[in-house]
Amino acid sequence: MLQTVIIAINNIIKKGYVYFFDIIPVMSKYIIRGGKSLAGDVIINGAKNAALGIIAAAIMSDEMITIENIPDVWDINVLLDAIKEMGAIVNRVDRHTVKIVGSMCTTTIDNDNIRKMRGSYYLVGALLGKYKRAQVPQPGGCNIGTRSVDQHFKGFKQLGAKVEITYGGLISAEAASLKGHHIFFDIVSVGATINVMLAAVLADGLTILENVAKEPHIVDVANFLNSMGANIKGAGTDVIKIRGVSKLHGSTYSIIPDQIEAGTFMLTAAATRGDLLIKNIIPKHMEAISAKLSEIGAEVIENDDSIRVVAKNRLSSANIKTSAYPGFPTDMQPQMTALLALSEGNSYVSEKIFDNRFKYVDELIRMGANIRVEGDVAIISGVEKLTGASVCSPDLRAGAALVIAGLVAEGYTVVEHVEYIERGYEEFEVKLRSLGASIEKVDDEEDSALYARKMALKDIS
Ligand code: EPZ
Repeated sequence: MLQTVIIAINNIIKKGYVYFFDIIPVMSKYIIRGGKSLAGDVIINGAKNAALGIIAAAIMSDEMITIENIPDVWDINVLLDAIKEMGAIVNRVDRHTVKIVGSMCTTTIDNDNIRKMRGSYYLVGALLGKYKRAQVPQPGGCNIGTRSVDQHFKGFKQLGAKVEITYGGLISAEAASLKGHHIFFDIVSVGATINVMLAAVLADGLTILENVAKEPHIVDVANFLNSMGANIKGAGTDVIKIRGVSKLHGSTYSIIPDQIEAGTFMLTAAATRGDLLIKNIIPKHMEAISAKLSEIGAEVIENDDSIRVVAKNRLSSANIKTSAYPGFPTDMQPQMTALLALSEGNSYVSEKIFDNRFKYVDELIRMGANIRVEGDVAIISGVEKLTGASVCSPDLRAGAALVIAGLVAEGYTVVEHVEYIERGYEEFEVKLRSLGASIEKVDDEEDSALYARKMALKDIS
């Protein structure tokens, strides 16, 4: 009951878009009755992984920054709360628009929520770049394998900073000044590319970054920084050149659509043998996913800012190797495995980015999937059907994969820990319901039983 009251208060405050309380990740679950083919239009929100870097970059200016098309998801709201706690003025104009003035910022932040997310590490690059010092907790984030930050530290040190882990697990970085440097990353890292770019934009002289990540969100953060007066060239290619400037001015910027949310709905259309129009996207960003869907027999029709996916028959098998952009995204690997679990024949999914991103396979096996994991490869023998079960989301994208499996399984599926899913998908169940899915979010045992009885009554009526 108390939790419900807190949620109600939080929702009231959220309406004013001024967060007083820490955002509470409520333990929730989805109850899904499978077997429906989804149909209709779905509008994709702004890219979470671009918004995290952009919000951190926003505090590098002392002037008003307006960010449009931000997704209303847990990670974003936690980061906005964090910069507010540090002294920035944060005015949530509406769910998808925020005005930020970062002039007054402390250079230290630490709270329970910020320790849970990955994108908090961008505050190090932003604070170090602007104030030449930062103290931020080591990042949390999805438990999908070793998630080192040694490349972030390498870049900061080569720009002239002293970086260490201090008591309590805080990353502490400081520098008398930052000087441009030629930095060659040992591995391609999205986070390190953005973080070192943040630290370098106000450094003295020229910084060259090589062996960088090229994801759309890297380009979006670079474009945003340039809209603030930074001088960055080459984002989206193998080499990024940054000429330091003296300050960054205000800007109004709209975030690109979320490639992974769009891809998740594309695969949902294919898995449920439905017909979805995925709107407000950049088809170019979806090419690896579109190509794979066409290869296995789905119909993929590209428009200027939307893609239609239609699948009427059983799809065929495929081989997937995740890789950095423009390859097949690791963040689409679990959703693709769920789709291939029902395809005709044997499929092989190799996870080449993270070393422990198949935890969800055991949950799919509970639903009747025939998959075995050997090293970094999931070997899938497609089955005719899955059956509903109670399953647990181990992380954000695996949770989305289990929802896809539940949408096509016979009977009921209960997906636990949907708070992971809500870190990166805005109103996931609401969007799915609008497309014809039988899915409800419930927050405790009582609601689960009530909902199941309600659905059972519907079944026999
Ligand atoms: C970002 O994580 C995304 N998160 C992840 O999305 C995404 O899966 C990943 O990039 C790859 O695209 C955010 O943007 C907040 P990496 P990040 O640095 O930055 C190793 C989601 O679902 N590595 O590109 O942590 C690392 O261990 C999330 O939205 C180092 O060894 O990914 C991993 O094996 C999940 N040293 C590989 O590189 C480093 O300093 C790629 O990591 C950095 C990374």
